[in-house]
This record gives sequence, C-alpha cells and structure tokens, in this order.
Amino acid sequence: MKHDHGYLMEGDEEALRLDIKTVAALVEAQALWAGIKPGMRVADLGCGAGKTTFHLNRLVQPDGQTVGVDIASQRVDYAKKHYSDEGIDYVVSDIREPLDHLGRFDFIWVRFVLEYYLEGSFDIVKNISQYLKPGGTLCLIDLDCNCLRNYGLSQRLENTLVQLMNIMKNNFNFDPYVGI
Ligand SMILES: C[S@@+](CC[C@H](N)C(=O)[O-])C[C@H]1O[C@@H](n2cnc3c(N)ncnc32)[C@H](O)[C@@H]1O
Repeated sequence: MKHDHGYLMEGDEEALRLDIKTVAALVEAQALWAGIKPGMRVADLGCGAGKTTFHLNRLVQPDGQTVGVDIASQRVDYAKKHYSDEGIDYVVSDIREPLDHLGRFDFIWVRFVLEYYLEGSFDIVKNISQYLKPGGTLCLIDLDCNCLRNYGLSQRLENTLVQLMNIMKNNFNFDPYVGI
C-alpha cells in the first residue's frame, strides 16, 4: 500500500472522542432501517469505543451475537471495559486482512472507517463481503462529502476546508467523498 500512516485520528483520547460523539438513537434507527433483527450474527468492523457495537447487539437480542473488531488494542480495551454485554465479543484485527477467524455474519456494519482509505477501500469491501452469509446485509456508512457540503459558510472558511481536505487526501489517504 502506498499510504500507510496508520489511523489518521490515532491518539490517547480517541476512544473517548468516539464514545462522546456517538448518538445511540441514530445508530439504532439506521440499523433498524437497514433490516437488523433479533437472532442475527453481527460484525461491527472498526468498532472504535464499542458504543455502536453495544447498541447493535441490543437490537439482535434475544439469541443474537455481535463481534466488535478494531485494529487498535486501545479501542478494544476501552470497548471491553465500557461496552461489554451478553452476546458481545471484541477482537483486535485489521479488516484489510483475512478475517476467517471471525466466522460468517448476517449483518456487517462499517461506519466511518472507509473514509480513511482513499486507496484501499474497494479492497476492504471485497475482503469483508466474503464473510457475509448468503442474503446477508452489508452496511457501509460514511459522511457524504464530509465537511465540504455545509451551507452558508464564509468564503474564507470554505476555502480553508477545501485546502484541508486536499491535504488529507494527498498526504493521509483520506477520502471525503467515499460516502457518495
Ligand atoms: C472514526 S472511528 C469509527 C468508530 C465507529 N465505527 C463509530 O462509528 O463511531 C474509525 C475506527 O476504525 C478503526 N480502524 C481503522 N482502520 C482499521 C482497520 N484496517 N481494521 C480495523 N479497524 C480499523 C480505527 O482504529 C477507529 O477505531
């Protein structure tokens, strides 16, 4: 891979940031819209703080299982500490690599991860698709144009955001458009 700087947002407080900013009701509404159901086996790939994993898991009870997967052991440790529950496992793995050890899933959820892979996102989708059961659902969720689509910004701020996104695209493998 040409770009491999690691995760752009890496830092000691990243798990806390992800925890605070995640709105459980929105995660649940989107997952229900996408067809999550009790009894399903779910993967939350790039699960971060585990808050999304916890709420997805609530929706597959009774009898469902959820595996939260993240490349960062710090995030997985945080998730185990704050968002463990019956039916949930947390695993450290890189979703660019084979994931046979995780088994197969009815519902795979990948939120705010592909945007970090301008180069590589198609390969990730190809890789994770292999782990869907026949008829399973793959949810790929990212912002549509990231911060480049706000209305009413001053020209100066808009120019700054465009420049910032260009730096992130050119130097950090970030894709502000992956959501579309
Ligand atoms: C912006 S956070 C999103 C967390 C969570 N999905 C959410 O919606 O709040 C992206 C997460 O993906 C993880 N990640 C990035 N690249 C990954 C990879 N190749 N394999 C597994 N996890 C990865 C990061 O460590 C980080 O915790």
